[in-house]
Amino acid sequence: MSARILDGKAIAKQVESELAQRIGALSARGVTPGLAVVLAGDDPASAIYVKHKERAALRLGLHARTVTLPAQVEPSTVAAEIDALNADDAIHGILVQLPLPAGIGPEETRALLQRVDPDKDVDGFHPVNLGRLVAGEPGFVACTPSGCMRLIAESGVDPAGRHAVVIGRSVIVGKPMALLLLAADATVTICHSRTPDLPAQVRAADIVVAAVGRARMVQASWIKPGAVVIDVGMNRDADGRLCGDVDTRAVAEVAGAVTPVPGGVGPMTIAGLMQNVVWAAERRAGIVPNAATVE
Ligand code: GUN
Repeated sequence: MSARILDGKAIAKQVESELAQRIGALSARGVTPGLAVVLAGDDPASAIYVKHKERAALRLGLHARTVTLPAQVEPSTVAAEIDALNADDAIHGILVQLPLPAGIGPEETRALLQRVDPDKDVDGFHPVNLGRLVAGEPGFVACTPSGCMRLIAESGVDPAGRHAVVIGRSVIVGKPMALLLLAADATVTICHSRTPDLPAQVRAADIVVAAVGRARMVQASWIKPGAVVIDVGMNRDADGRLCGDVDTRAVAEVAGAVTPVPGGVGPMTIAGLMQNVVWAAERRAGIVPNAATVE
């Protein structure tokens, strides 16, 4: 069997064209959705991610601002920048690019993420929005999991009644992913570093989402024939080549559909972010009720 390759680039383009109409409606009311990114330090991968986010925003005619701060920045300075963006009416969405510099510890990072106004939290990292997701209430959903849900929808497989296995339990991907799949009526298993016999768990899955950060860890022998395999990983292999968490070439011989790396989940994360910024602006403009598209 040869799997369908789920082209995240093409689907993200489709999402952008859907958004263009909504942006047009906002523009008719004199509203330009605004995204602000706080980028602290000089992590090269973060700089690239932020550039992609900025470019997508500008391509869609959004207002985009990047607040660049040095690696030695004090948490209080980052906090002051967040406060200013919270108060700025031209900004509908704020994201603090992670990781923050090494001098800012996990507790301080948590406090800074919680400082973002939950109504501008387009990353969906604020506990208020995570809580809304748990409660099944409208709120911002983290961009990567919402992008993955769209990829699964495009595979033609309805999660309802299916068994989904999420590998990874991060607050940014694994946990929200599991909750979205659950909301879509899948039976969900979350696997992690202490899960015994991971291959056996994955073999039971109709839908696999791999978000572990280990190059080509998920093998073809783990995959149920016809399964949908979503690869969130973004790693470098021993030769320095970009690759995901899935051994894509081999898995594609067994799976029904698989996402490539690059060009799978990555563009969909950006599309999910754009969707969140537009929704934030619609909410403030009173175009939509206080309701979100939790996919
Ligand atoms: N670093 C890696 N991925 C992300 C993301 O989705 N959002 C933020 N803010 N930082 C990241």
